[in-house]
Amino acid sequence: MEKFEELKLKAKAEIEKIASMKTINDVKAKFIGKNGEITALLRGMKDIPAEMRAAFGKRVNDLKEEVSAFFAKKETELKAAESADKFKKEAVDITLPAKTLQVGGLHPLNIVKNKIIDAFTGMGFEIFEGPEIDTDYYCFQALNIPKDHPARDMQDTFYINDNVLLRPHTSPGQVRTMENKKPPIKILSPGRVYRADDDASHSPMFHQIEGLVVDKGVSLCDLKGLLDEFVKIIFDKDTKTRFRPSYFPFTEPSVEVDVTCCKCGGKGCNLCKGTGWIEILGAGVVNKKVLEMSGIDSNVYSGLAFGLGIERITMIKYGISDIRTLFENNVAFLQQFNRR
Ligand code: PHE
Repeated sequence: MEKFEELKLKAKAEIEKIASMKTINDVKAKFIGKNGEITALLRGMKDIPAEMRAAFGKRVNDLKEEVSAFFAKKETELKAAESADKFKKEAVDITLPAKTLQVGGLHPLNIVKNKIIDAFTGMGFEIFEGPEIDTDYYCFQALNIPKDHPARDMQDTFYINDNVLLRPHTSPGQVRTMENKKPPIKILSPGRVYRADDDASHSPMFHQIEGLVVDKGVSLCDLKGLLDEFVKIIFDKDTKTRFRPSYFPFTEPSVEVDVTCCKCGGKGCNLCKGTGWIEILGAGVVNKKVLEMSGIDSNVYSGLAFGLGIERITMIKYGISDIRTLFENNVAFLQQFNRR
């Protein structure tokens, strides 16, 4: 009896000391394994007198059960401790701000260009893109600006040679269209243009959109209706237009178009320099000479044309004071236009 009790206490003490699942099996083997101390007692049964054998066997089995219970308890404790430890090690701090994905966005000039194109394609215009390097004929002569005409001074042009140049406006798109298409014509010609000019409101490369309508009975009234509708789409529905007489060799009459200031609504502020109006584009009724030079009968057809600067509209719309910020590719600046 004493030996049983001793063995039980010994096993209990050793089991209590076990610190990991790795060693628990060694200790199990030592006591209740095939060659364990308790198992050895069972093997010794044959030396026990027959009348005591049953009682002895029961004792050994009871002991074995008790010790097994110690192991089971220890095992549960160890497993709990081990998983607690694992959870602690693998813990993720869910309060940390996640890494945000940098998503690209459209450049403000493309945002505005797309809006302008949407506005006009909604009114039935098609897109035609002409070349950025063009000839003197398309950029000037066919637009009623002969060589040595003083109107050439209106733009400081980059010449490649006497005859080839970087187009200073998108107006050659009018000529190229009229040469290739019979009226009715209703086109929009967006693209880059170049002028030797560089300050806060001028860039040597900028973007224009040319518009041209040629059909029977087209007049200045159509131009006014078209542009009234356009400025309401681009700025807001209360925006009004004002036509001022102007001069372009390729339109007659020619106008400069102002809109009510989008910042003050026409009351007068620093953006519109107190006038309430901001100039946004040049336009007019296509000069009969220009129609004729491109092979369109000016007795049958008439046209209207307009040319606008995308940078200018973008700057007015978003209150940008220096054109150069549009070309510096400063991400902090550009991100402001793509807020989700
Ligand atoms: N081409 C002119 C410019 O660049 C704008 C314009 C286009 C004016 C069409 C009238 C008609 O300033």
